[in-house]
Amino acid sequence: MYIPDEIVDEVLRRCNIVDLISGYVSLQKKGSNWFGLCPFHNEKTGSFSVSESRQMFHCFGCGVSGSAYTFLMKYENFTFPEAVRFLAEKEGVVIPEGENPEEARKKESRRKQLLDVLYDAELYSYNCLRNPRGEQGLSYLRGRQLTDETIKHFGLGYAPKNSKEVIGYLKSKGHSDENIIAVGLGEFSEKYGMSGKFWNRVMFPIQDVNHRVIGFGGRVMGEGEPKYLNSQETEIFNKRNQLFGLNWARTSRKKEMILCEGYMDVISMHQAGFTQAVASLGTAFTEQQAKLISRYTKQVVLAYDSDEAGIKAALRAIGILRAEKMYAKVMSMRPHKDPDEFIKALGQEEFQKRIDEAENGFYFEIRMLERGFDLSDPDGKTQFHNEIAKKLCTFEDELQRENYLNAIAEKYVIRADILKDAVKRYAASGVGTKEKQIDFSVPKPLASAKMRKDQLKEEKYKRSANLLLAMLWQMPEFYQAVRDYIGPKDFQTEEYQQIAELLFQKLEAGEKVEPALMISRFEEEHLQQLAGEIFSAREEAMLGLSGEGEDPAPDKETDRKVFKEVLLFVKSTAYEKLAEDAPLAEVVKYQKDIEQLKKLKL
Ligand code: CTP
Ligand code: MN
Repeated sequence: MYIPDEIVDEVLRRCNIVDLISGYVSLQKKGSNWFGLCPFHNEKTGSFSVSESRQMFHCFGCGVSGSAYTFLMKYENFTFPEAVRFLAEKEGVVIPEGENPEEARKKESRRKQLLDVLYDAELYSYNCLRNPRGEQGLSYLRGRQLTDETIKHFGLGYAPKNSKEVIGYLKSKGHSDENIIAVGLGEFSEKYGMSGKFWNRVMFPIQDVNHRVIGFGGRVMGEGEPKYLNSQETEIFNKRNQLFGLNWARTSRKKEMILCEGYMDVISMHQAGFTQAVASLGTAFTEQQAKLISRYTKQVVLAYDSDEAGIKAALRAIGILRAEKMYAKVMSMRPHKDPDEFIKALGQEEFQKRIDEAENGFYFEIRMLERGFDLSDPDGKTQFHNEIAKKLCTFEDELQRENYLNAIAEKYVIRADILKDAVKRYAASGVGTKEKQIDFSVPKPLASAKMRKDQLKEEKYKRSANLLLAMLWQMPEFYQAVRDYIGPKDFQTEEYQQIAELLFQKLEAGEKVEPALMISRFEEEHLQQLAGEIFSAREEAMLGLSGEGEDPAPDKETDRKVFKEVLLFVKSTAYEKLAEDAPLAEVVKYQKDIEQLKKLKL
């Protein structure tokens, strides 16, 4: 049965391939990847790698490769829909049942239509900010010390006083009243007809991880109620599952993410270089949001407001993060209210210091707990220590619990053995948590080894084509240099052409290519396998040089040489094949292209 792409992607985004595969194979971290014994062939040293950042696995021994779905298909012998269903269940994603493919496709096309409405609305508000009637909005944002670059980066905009304008604009773009209402941008009344929901506000577009606008927040310029007006939940805007700023933060490559409360906080932080900041959009932080972050990092620094509400929110977030086996720290904004005001008052360096000095989440919890007890009274003290013991039970990892127990015992001068007894007591009474089940299944026997002589040539082609596509993906400047000379049709097999088609499409659109998501655009295992090989081709090629399957960093010169070599090989192979029976004009064009490519300076 047909499962919409958006569900396939969502399941994949929620799942962490390292956790999934850990249930089958014992993995150890080496550099940025995880390694273990390959379950698909017999081996004594682990050449099976799992990459968290790419959400892929790849075996440097036998070459199996792919996404979480591919793994399940290979290991469990699932079909693609079975693998998606299996994982969806695990990750708590509901697949709409009882739909025929026709209906499901309709749903998807509706989703696209709705996204289009929001896209046009964003374009409109973005432009309004830059024409005379948006002047007030622009000066408000500038008054809050946002640079023009920041305003542009976040796509900030303005909703004019007359809310009918945006409706008129959207209708002129062909959007229906019904769709405008469905995305939360318009309302209909008998008396006034259609009117826009946002007016006379600066607009903050809310983007999903793919930079698609899925909703808006609008702020009054100055005082007024409500301060922020947000899009309501819609078919495409699920607040529990989104984080403002994640579209940028996910590629920040910082060791932690900073979690804060507001739009302006995120924007100020990004402007000051803290591009690892995200916000939970005026709603309480959720488990789903924690899972989203854990795809990128396990370390979260909370930058909540310094008032009581902020403390409460922080305590809540710490609990959620711990349950997801993530690490929380809390940074202090004092004497200021929030990150935005802190940075304005004290600057970027001081802010970095506060990140570095952020308090361990557990210490923060205990310190806040302490406020509720009178420690000068023995009973108060006992209650406090018992509460500490209960809190310690929230750690599932025994070692971690032990370490915290000792640290806290020392910090608060409690006898560790007595505290330990209390923890045991509470744990036994069910305050503790379940142990994780690990499945030590026996690996499957080796896929039959096959290597005939006439395959050698094919192998060379494969190596070159894989490497070429991998390099086009990883080195945009190479792609730019050769995009006029090479396309999907230059690849030999139908398989390659299909994958190349999709990859070129993304590169041409300047979209970020996420390996696991791209692999999962193909239902057939052999295509997933090939796509996986392509995404691992550079690491595979570097193996002979570095001996380890992780993050090789070849020099630019080697890259240029290799790229040209594989490019010419693939192109000439295409030429040889074509020269047999193609029309002369086409053959000549190929010759010319090849001549050009030979001369190409990269
Ligand atoms: N918020 C909201 N609706 C409101 C007030 C707040 O949705 N009426 C959400 C917004 O996402 C806002 C966040 O809660 O960014 C934090 O609110 P608050 O601390 O009041 O605002 P600031 O982020 O400090 O906003 P500003 O600096 O613009 O005053
Ligand atoms: Mn603020």
